Amino acid sequence: MKIILRVFRFDPSVDEAPYYRNYSVQAEPYERVLDCLNRIKWEQDGTLAYRMSCAHGVCGSDAMKINGRCALACQKLVRDCEADLILVEPLPSFTVLKDLIVDLNPFFDKVNFVHPFLYAGTPPEKERLQSPEERKKMGESIRCILCACCTAACPVVNENENFLGPAPLVQAFRRIFDSRDTQKIERLDQLDVEDGVWACLNHYECTRVCPKEIPVTKYINTIKREIKKILGPSPE
Ligand code: SF4
Ligand code: SF4
Ligand code: FES
Repeated sequence: MKIILRVFRFDPSVDEAPYYRNYSVQAEPYERVLDCLNRIKWEQDGTLAYRMSCAHGVCGSDAMKINGRCALACQKLVRDCEADLILVEPLPSFTVLKDLIVDLNPFFDKVNFVHPFLYAGTPPEKERLQSPEERKKMGESIRCILCACCTAACPVVNENENFLGPAPLVQAFRRIFDSRDTQKIERLDQLDVEDGVWACLNHYECTRVCPKEIPVTKYINTIKREIKKILGPSPE
């Protein structure tokens, strides 16, 4: 089938303003939007810029807005786009560096802020044991690939650049509910601020777009409840 990809283009070093360019591409319904972008870049227009690496939903690098919704181009099938014209744009809420590539430094700064690693104290003689029940408490948070779809889709992030955003909160959730971590109180305390967990207004956009089907909003609300339980009432 023949489809049109309408792609956002902007090179700040030469363009005065962003514009859209249409590309006609031959694609099978089971092919992915990433296949179409590759075909454009390799056969029609080598100047088109976008990120990709694994092409299998693992690295999180090809997150973009496809027909108005944040998604991974390597997971979005042509047949699921429900139109012969597919609109491809960069992730919202971030500065465009070129075409579909955005500056993710502010995103990773916020992820790093929550210390996305284990504070496990003195190493034991053997391995650190964790029961299946303890592991269950971390839920699906371990599936996060830091693609930034959730943060880009969050209406609160869009209006308040100081809000930590859903992905860092998922990273925090993972460590707060890891039985091996020793910094639970400190982690809860760090999030118990206006632009921390309490800025989330339960829009559920993050949950809707997460390509790894992580119940992001549910986890944010679980952190809120844990803060109330362990640290006491907070200004919600
Ligand atoms: S649930 Fe919270 S974090 Fe998720 S999109 Fe809504 S406001 Fe943003
Ligand atoms: S929670 Fe989901 S959408 Fe957000 S960064 Fe992780 S994988 Fe991506
Ligand atoms: S290219 Fe790695 S997740 Fe899509």
